[in-house]
Amino acid sequence: MSRLRVAVIGAGNWGRNHVRTLAGMPDVELVAVCDSSPGRRDQISRQYPDVLVTAESEQAMGAAEAVVIATPAATHAPLTRTAIERGLPVLVEKPFTLSPRDADALVELAAVRGVPVVVGHLLLFHPAIERLRSMIKNDELGTVYYLYSQRVNLGQVRPDENALWSFGPHDVSVALDLLGQPPVRVAAQGRSYLQAGIEDVVFLTMEFESGVLAHAQMSWLDPHKERRLTVVGSRKMVVFDDMQSREKLKIYDRGVDRPPEYGSYGESLAIREGDIAIPRVPTDEPLSLELKHFVAVARRQARPRVDAASGAEVVRVLAAASESLAENGRVVELTPARAGIS
Ligand SMILES: NC(=O)c1ccc[n+]([C@@H]2O[C@H](COP(=O)([O-])OP(=O)(O)OC[C@H]3O[C@@H](n4cnc5c(N)ncnc54)[C@H](O)[C@@H]3O)[C@@H](O)[C@H]2O)c1
Repeated sequence: MSRLRVAVIGAGNWGRNHVRTLAGMPDVELVAVCDSSPGRRDQISRQYPDVLVTAESEQAMGAAEAVVIATPAATHAPLTRTAIERGLPVLVEKPFTLSPRDADALVELAAVRGVPVVVGHLLLFHPAIERLRSMIKNDELGTVYYLYSQRVNLGQVRPDENALWSFGPHDVSVALDLLGQPPVRVAAQGRSYLQAGIEDVVFLTMEFESGVLAHAQMSWLDPHKERRLTVVGSRKMVVFDDMQSREKLKIYDRGVDRPPEYGSYGESLAIREGDIAIPRVPTDEPLSLELKHFVAVARRQARPRVDAASGAEVVRVLAAASESLAENGRVVELTPARAGIS
């Protein structure tokens, strides 16, 4: 089978990881890289002399059979639209778009044109999250009560998007994926300490129809670097710590059991402190797994695991959270009727 000709649009801090990974894939030919920055283009040209390096996204797309978009968020919608209109399978970085209206328009266009879209919700390709998903599906944790994540560190302070839109796509996509449903209401509070109008610190709460609560703490103004998710179930509790190089997943056989004769007395609840298991999780790089999946999707050998519709769902939650953030944490209802909001 001939190699899939792929172009990357946007080769900045993150996009260059796409470039490097694609350049190393045996079934891919990295044909073009587009970046608006002359400095970036020089760098890429020196590193990959055989690759077309251009400032024109249309030129890069013209050379390719599939395209990866890793430009700043505001450009995702127009570039994805162009790729779909050209019939090119597209992997677009998170956040899919900055408004539900743009996201819904792309979902529709992709469906009408029959062009597959993968949204770069990287954590959904993480082997530890895959494992967690199957544990929840197989009822190993019992009833999921609540989950919370911490995605904090010092920097990178972004001038064009707040901590919610920068980090939130990860936490929201994971919560929706693990729980298998979108939240019914959200509330977010945050503060802009460094730049006016751009929240550096955001606390987001999502409430699901099942009663599950999910909380995400997001910040680039924090002394710690944390990438951690805790899921608390009635039988077991799990911690996914992405800062650990090996033992990323810990399963705690812990909980509070309610004996059958349980009445209304708290003292009849029994604390259970069992073993902690550390399962072996494959160490494959999530970006490499994501791009392998994208190649299979572009070749029509697989359906997108994170498609445009699920990208749009995450955008809808983030937009509702933004609304709440602007009103200092007012609870915002998310119903299917909100599907058309901008
Ligand atoms: N999945 C992840 O884990 C992850 C991690 C980091 C960033 N990202 C996402 O990747 C995207 C890029 O982030 P980044 O950190 O690399 O940003 P960045 O600012 O470092 O890079 C963006 C690059 O795009 C170029 N660019 C801007 N507009 C362009 C246009 N219209 N056409 C061509 N090039 C253009 C810029 O010159 C720059 O080199 C963002 O959407 C971000 O949220 C995802």
